[in-house]
Amino acid sequence: MEQFAIKGGNPLVGEVEIGGAKNAALAILAAAIMTDETVLIENMPDVRDTNVLIQAMESIGVIVKRLDRHTVKINASNIHDVVIEDDFIKKIRASYYLLGALLGKYKKAEVSLPGGCNIGLRPIDQHIKGFRALGADVRIEHGMIITDAEHLKGSHVYLDVVSVGATINVMMAAAMAEGKTTIENAAKEPHVVDLANFLNSMGADIKGAGTDVIRIRGVSKLHGSEYAIIPDQIEAGTFMFAAAVTKGDVTVKNVIPKHLESISAKLLEIGCEIEESDDAVRVVASKPLGHTHVKTLPYPGFPTDMQPQIAVTLGLSMGTSIVTESIFENRFKYVDELTRMGASIKVEGNTAIIDGVKKYTGASITAPDLRAGAALVIAGLAAEGITVVDDIKFIQRGYEDFHLKLKALGAQIEMVNTEKELQKFKLKVG
Ligand code: UD1
Repeated sequence: MEQFAIKGGNPLVGEVEIGGAKNAALAILAAAIMTDETVLIENMPDVRDTNVLIQAMESIGVIVKRLDRHTVKINASNIHDVVIEDDFIKKIRASYYLLGALLGKYKKAEVSLPGGCNIGLRPIDQHIKGFRALGADVRIEHGMIITDAEHLKGSHVYLDVVSVGATINVMMAAAMAEGKTTIENAAKEPHVVDLANFLNSMGADIKGAGTDVIRIRGVSKLHGSEYAIIPDQIEAGTFMFAAAVTKGDVTVKNVIPKHLESISAKLLEIGCEIEESDDAVRVVASKPLGHTHVKTLPYPGFPTDMQPQIAVTLGLSMGTSIVTESIFENRFKYVDELTRMGASIKVEGNTAIIDGVKKYTGASITAPDLRAGAALVIAGLAAEGITVVDDIKFIQRGYEDFHLKLKALGAQIEMVNTEKELQKFKLKVG
């Protein structure tokens, strides 16, 4: 089984190139099947989640050609099925974006009901509410969500919770409905805006993405397009906190600094220096870090996908910090692992009370999910001694070449497959 072996203690120093946003890529890949013409997508991250979604698309007849590692050409003129099997949904929840895309294009779709992702209950009632408002019939039978409509008709959709997934799914279906749809209380995340821009580049008529009211005038046909995906806000943020926790000096390049504002603000608050330019942000942690309070919120608030990374950093900062998770109810699973490394964290409901300690010590730990896995790796980079992180398949879902990028910044980290390779690493790092 693949693991990351880490010898902590080196400050991360240098520049790191950030890839395309995984969460935008998932929505854009699904939307690309909504036209019979060819679509070219650039800045596609080469991570497990996008690759599984591509396989799900290929399973129904979509032709996907990789022109290079980060460019794909998609042609969906020969789709022969609107049923997405359970295997894909089990591996990647966002396969359910094919529901909105297929419903919009063919007025029918069947996708296996997604399970959880280890971070708590993840209902899809708002997606279903949106599809129904557009006139679709939605049933759950034999573990599948089955939806069809004679015609999709534009409508007024009020989302009871701010949901990225529901906003994206409803936006796709409404893009090809008859007439006008308004989505109120829509999610404002950068990837929602990126999807709207992509759909507009295919001939859709979507206004207001990035605000909480999105207005969509349906069109009967979408056309081919060439589009580059925005940089990954969460990958960038992860490297920014890795710089902070290792007392390093890292410039994240190819980013949109505006998307990183909540992250930069918290780093500034705890004593890092931040330098922004047009497409880069530099984080310098030259003095001891201080404590803060943070609550995860929908964009532009502090992202839930950055919660474990900030907690790992606050665990080594002076004083008591409070982290409140307001999006997912079960997102503190990594705390037990971090405690094994010496952290002092008490979780009460959706709040973690963190008493900063002087050091973490390396341990054998397990990645419980994607972002917590990345956070535990950065804890290992700051820890004394050797940390071995198991279940790195979770991390590979969303980070391309994570260990190689860290290595280029001076980290001592290897991917190891066997006990022998682990021993070799231990001998090498001394
Ligand atoms: C997306 C992101 C994920 C991120 C999350 C919040 C992708 C592929 N995933 O997940 O990385 O952590 O946004 O920024 O982009 N909810 C309902 N009913 C619904 C839908 C959601 O109650 O029908 C609730 C959820 O349980 C959660 C909250 O709404 O409490 C937000 O979830 P949502 O924004 O939908 O998250 P995802 O789209 O699943």
